[in-house]
Amino acid sequence: MLARKYRPKQFSDIVGQLSVVKTLVNAIKLNRTHQAYVFSGSRGIGKTSIARIFSKALRCENVIEKNGLLYSCDQCSDCIEIAAGSSVNVMEIDGASNNGVDSVREIREGAKFLPSSGKYKIYIIDEVHMLSTAAFNALLKTLEEPPEHVVFIFATTESHKIPETILGRCQRFDFKRVTVAQITERMKEVLQSEKIQAEDAALNLISRSAEGSMRDALSILDQVISFSGMKINAQAVRESIGLIGTELILALVKNILLRDAKAALSVAQQAFNQGVDLKVLMKMVIEMIHALIMIQVGVEKPETHFNDDELMQISNLKDIRALEENELIFQVFHHGLDLLSRAAQPKLILDLIIVKTSLAEEIIRADKVADEMSEEGMLDVHAGPDRGAPRPPATPVKNLTSAVVDPVLEKVIAKPELVQTTEAAPAPQAREIFGGLAFGAKKQEITEITPVAPTIKSARPKTWEGFIEFCFEHKPVLAVVMESVVEWSIPLNAGDSLKLGFREKDQAKAEQLQQKAYRDQFTQAIEAHFGFKSPVEIFFSKNAGESMAEKTIRAQKEQRDEKMKNILSNHIVQEARSLFGVEVQIELSEKEK
Ligand SMILES: Nc1ncnc2c1ncn2[C@@H]1O[C@H](COP(=O)(O)OP(=O)(O)O)[C@@H](O)[C@H]1O
Ligand SMILES: [Mg+2]
Ligand SMILES: [Zn+2]
Repeated sequence: MLARKYRPKQFSDIVGQLSVVKTLVNAIKLNRTHQAYVFSGSRGIGKTSIARIFSKALRCENVIEKNGLLYSCDQCSDCIEIAAGSSVNVMEIDGASNNGVDSVREIREGAKFLPSSGKYKIYIIDEVHMLSTAAFNALLKTLEEPPEHVVFIFATTESHKIPETILGRCQRFDFKRVTVAQITERMKEVLQSEKIQAEDAALNLISRSAEGSMRDALSILDQVISFSGMKINAQAVRESIGLIGTELILALVKNILLRDAKAALSVAQQAFNQGVDLKVLMKMVIEMIHALIMIQVGVEKPETHFNDDELMQISNLKDIRALEENELIFQVFHHGLDLLSRAAQPKLILDLIIVKTSLAEEIIRADKVADEMSEEGMLDVHAGPDRGAPRPPATPVKNLTSAVVDPVLEKVIAKPELVQTTEAAPAPQAREIFGGLAFGAKKQEITEITPVAPTIKSARPKTWEGFIEFCFEHKPVLAVVMESVVEWSIPLNAGDSLKLGFREKDQAKAEQLQQKAYRDQFTQAIEAHFGFKSPVEIFFSKNAGESMAEKTIRAQKEQRDEKMKNILSNHIVQEARSLFGVEVQIELSEKEK
């Protein structure tokens, strides 16, 4: 097990978590350690490792200082026992299995006694959020008057479940996910000492699928090594962990953009035959279209998981469709993801989304349609196949190519009245909906249209929430950035500035917004919504939790997703039946039934 074997022994072995390490080291140097710490963050990013390293640095008598860091000797009995988890003065307690009040009382009693040697007695309580309320209350009593020799380290993946009263008495560290580059770097070190060779592309794939967890990366690496031995290549990584190659996603996206549904479907089929997880596939498609949009608006190096070579290939796709079309394709996939994860036969959903995005002449924003349909009483999830939208009798179609031009299918997402107008110039309704952007037009016409039509006027309330709603309608990519704002103040008059507070962890988003391409779009969106130009000020907010806006947006998004789900479940299910001659079932969760 590489993760175990390569557990960091010293602060200098820790990858990332720089500010945590610095603060802890300085506290020891200045003899100003706290009595209780909370280490919060996702799994496998160094919480337990740092708790042990910190304990060793507090207890080892031969600590030395080098390059600003502290090093324990790793030879004395303290160091050896702490590393093995068997020290009587450094207790590691699993909060999940010792979550009752009795366990905490036991800790309190024990804490009263001095350490058997040395200065500190340290309690590391893992998964501390699992403690019962009574247990937390008992713990609070100890934290109110802790014996001087005691240090508590509470590790948790869910800090929001810890009572404020406890948090208030601790110094808190939010551990960050490890970046792809950091994970790759560390894996290279590990592989070098294991004398195993690996292609860069292979390491990149592993780092990406570890989603920020160093432990996950190392256990995937384990798995790959046992699969392919002393030489690792990208293909082996894919085969051993069922990863999807970027080439495959590229082929899929390219065919969709080229409106070649048949080819796109066959790529999807190929992926399906390989046994890939369709949800992961959808996510990668979404990520790629996002990158494509970024490139289209002029961001040179978008913040993505794709490497330079892949970005090159993605950028080759940028002239196929207009920006707005790509944004809508992005939305359709994004909304479809939720539906796909609930579907009993996800492949059918994926196929229909592919068909829609590659062939529909009119891609209509689904919530817009849902609004109209529910106004017209057309949207009823519980409607049987014979109710709902009036439509021509559905004849089962075997041949996909003829199926997709079938006007019946057009209704899956398209607004009914628009169906008849696909040959001619865009219907006036379409122009209205998109504020002058003609989606029904032939391809050359589309590419001549400028990205944000200045004629767009926001009909949403002039609030922050309204602004985000507006962005969701017209600039979904901007809206995604806006979602992470935790504090704001909106301009009331011309000349006021729009102030946006980001959490430090969302720094990348804040920076994205400052890039020219984003900024220009943003300026236009502000003007369209508030009715005047307004300077933007970005600052870092100390507000760490979920803001009101996030909550509101989440609720709105859920509503929207719900609508999307309704419309897709209702219509796609029906169309899928006629298209494939099979029964599709959408599973609703208990709550929705
Ligand atoms: N920041 C890190 N730097 C180096 N290795 C790490 C880091 N985080 C995790 N690891 C690797 O993952 C393993 C588990 O880490 P651990 O500290 O137990 O994570 P956590 O307690 O956050 O779940 C370690 O043994 C080590 O191999
Ligand atoms: Mg841990
Ligand atoms: Zn030591």
